[in-house]
Amino acid sequence: MASISGRVGEPRTPTTASDRRLLGVLTPTHGFTATWASIVHAATTPGVRGAEVFTVATRAGWFVGSARLPGLEGTAAWLLALVLVMRGGHLVGVRAIDMPSNWTALHWGLSASHVAEIEEAAAVRAKTFAQSILEGRRQLTGGLSLTAGLLLAPVSLLYLALARPLLGKLFVADERCTSCALCAKHCPFGAVHMIGGPRKRPYWTSSCESCMRCMNVCPERAIQANWPLAAAQTWVMLAIYAAVTGAESATVELTTQVLAFIAACVAVLCMTGPVYWVAWRLSRLGAVAWLLGHMTPTRLFRRYREPETNLRDI
Ligand SMILES: Cc1cc2nc3c(=O)[nH]c(=O)nc-3n(C[C@H](O)[C@H](O)[C@H](O)COP(=O)(O)O)c2cc1C
Repeated sequence: MASISGRVGEPRTPTTASDRRLLGVLTPTHGFTATWASIVHAATTPGVRGAEVFTVATRAGWFVGSARLPGLEGTAAWLLALVLVMRGGHLVGVRAIDMPSNWTALHWGLSASHVAEIEEAAAVRAKTFAQSILEGRRQLTGGLSLTAGLLLAPVSLLYLALARPLLGKLFVADERCTSCALCAKHCPFGAVHMIGGPRKRPYWTSSCESCMRCMNVCPERAIQANWPLAAAQTWVMLAIYAAVTGAESATVELTTQVLAFIAACVAVLCMTGPVYWVAWRLSRLGAVAWLLGHMTPTRLFRRYREPETNLRDI
């Protein structure tokens, strides 16, 4: 697999296996497609023309009781494959691999034993995939997921255009933040800045890709996702939509509904920056930080702590 070091998005040298040139792009699945950073990376990384290329999408492995459930990568792996092929790569592998679902801004983290079970299965899958490719056997998988992903394409577009810029702006440090700056130091995208006078606090910029590393790396578990702000934004969107379409939206023309929806999205996107700035300023007050921390369930959620894992290990 392509070796990874430094910040995400930095050019990397493709790995050479004997006299073949292999290049792989890996992405976590977000919104049933690849992350924006991975799409940009596939579109810009050097050395694609003439190389044998493969893509891997990791997705949300989950447990319900003792049953292990797979995630759904949708278009993630195949979208990257398309980009690489359009850049002159010869496609040799497409694969999805379940990893422990990491969206801890949304859900409770998995137990250590469930994490271990998913990771064990992932290691076997990754090894088999890598061996096939190294032995010259093509591994193009995920046709069903791709079909589901194409059907879910509107959701993926909404994720990239609307949810991605909003999600990073939901992060907030509660009163337990010690200004240690580990969240900023470990952010693969350089999206977390420490600002605000002598007692600096983390500020999430729009480069955030919601990788959840900041939440998990914080030794105080002080980083939360601001659920009340998410609820307020949803309420504003619904209010704008209702105002534009009128109360009886079922009788309103489709064009009006689409326009109302776009207006609601644009309004919320425009408001996000200023609203986040105000929330961030207020969160510098200990009492407000405490309140924000106690108004969201993420304070209770388990974290996946791996303090020994450095950026260069990812
Ligand atoms: C914002 C966000 C959206 C996600 N969307 C999906 C999804 O659509 N399908 C899926 O299977 N997993 C989804 N996941 C889970 C991750 O893809 C999965 O936990 C990840 O691949 C784990 O790899 P990582 O720890 O290297 O990021 C999502 C996670 C986040 C944070």
